[in-house]
Amino acid sequence: MNQPAAEAQSLAGVNPFSLQEKEAYRRWREQKLHAYPETAESLIVEVGDPRALTEAEASAILRVCRKSNMAVYASQVGGLADKTIPRALGERFGLQRLDSNMLADDDGISSLQVVPGKSQRGYIPYSSRRLLWHTDGYYNRPESFIRAFVLHCVSPAADGGENSLLDHEIVYILLRDANPEYIQALMAPEAMIIPANTETGEETRAASIGPVFSVDIAGNLHMRYTARTRSILWKQDAMTQEAVRFLENLLNGDSPYVFHHRLAPGQGLICNNVLHNRTGFTDDMDKGIARLVYRARYYDRIRGTNLNDMSV
Ligand SMILES: [Fe+2]
Repeated sequence: MNQPAAEAQSLAGVNPFSLQEKEAYRRWREQKLHAYPETAESLIVEVGDPRALTEAEASAILRVCRKSNMAVYASQVGGLADKTIPRALGERFGLQRLDSNMLADDDGISSLQVVPGKSQRGYIPYSSRRLLWHTDGYYNRPESFIRAFVLHCVSPAADGGENSLLDHEIVYILLRDANPEYIQALMAPEAMIIPANTETGEETRAASIGPVFSVDIAGNLHMRYTARTRSILWKQDAMTQEAVRFLENLLNGDSPYVFHHRLAPGQGLICNNVLHNRTGFTDDMDKGIARLVYRARYYDRIRGTNLNDMSV
């Protein structure tokens, strides 16, 4: 057993994400699925100002996140272009360590909007094109895994820009219930390979080789995934291929666990990096309608949503 796995055992007791722990998995699964939200509306928590949540608002958000790894807050600050909104909201839930990718604005919080220069270089988040299913930072190394992110909508597009959302712990359950060997394959250290980014002829990001599912030192499940087929190599054995196909079918199907939500002005998503996608959208510059969403990515997980917190 390697060191992180040993620590996970000591911190979290018997870990339900270990295939050997059938009884722990059964108990965790039962608790997880009990009263699981059935609609996107049940993820929504009404708040006043996300920069200064009341105790009741913060605990309502946390309660939803504990169950489904995500919550949508609906605030009164629609239209207000202020980056302290996602920053202060995140801090309230222990999200401190921002990931600064090479295209984030200087303060580590990205303004997702149509920026011709960036989208022409192939960075779809800065264009109006659809985004396929993924978790954020799927190319990051374990020391910089994205464990949580906040999306805050200042203004929606004239049309489109809807997100689909799926709790990665639910994905784990659906895969393990279908065939535990899928989990074994997707936990393999070389399951998913993202080749180096050599966009400019120089290597701006090293190749990333790792599992889809992994368990952190606190026993929490992490997922790396992208539905992209370009610039991604899956392990070539039959079980990995079958597991990836199963996952693709799940994501392309009409699972009741997939939530669909279009963020309205002043609304935001806080989550433990659940699977998500986004439809394409159109702005209407003549009418001054342009989508602006702030995104903050963190190395931290939402405070109070660790595996051990679930049983209290
Ligand atoms: Fe994303």
